[in-house]
Amino acid sequence: MEFFEWKKDYELGIKLVDEEHKQLVKLINELERAITENKTDQVIKGVLQGLKGYINIHFTVEEEYMNVYDYSGLKSHTEAHEQFKKKIFSISHDLEEGGLDIPKSVLVYLKKWLQEHILETDRKLCLFLKEQKIN
Ligand SMILES: [Fe+2]
Ligand SMILES: [Fe+2]
Repeated sequence: MEFFEWKKDYELGIKLVDEEHKQLVKLINELERAITENKTDQVIKGVLQGLKGYINIHFTVEEEYMNVYDYSGLKSHTEAHEQFKKKIFSISHDLEEGGLDIPKSVLVYLKKWLQEHILETDRKLCLFLKEQKIN
């Protein structure tokens, strides 16, 4: 069983958003595997960089949707993204400084944050987008 299992519940009905969420789940699983399989620092660093990059891309996509369709929850949703980006930034900074010993708690945090964000914050956005006849 994978560390972060994809569930039907996570599907929000906006194709691009769903695909990107699946990709994020995949990248978190990849990071978990790299850590549990004791891959080299270089490998772990690479996976983490990939995850960071993809998070940025994905958040930008959602923020673009919010801007274009004048979504009322834009400010708080974007703030949630910013908070998470800061957290990821500090995680990778710590790793650069103190070696790449990522504790399990960090992985659990990433998974929990994404689950909750999809099910609450992104769900609201996607309901709104569906009302705008986007799919
Ligand atoms: Fe989001
Ligand atoms: Fe999202």
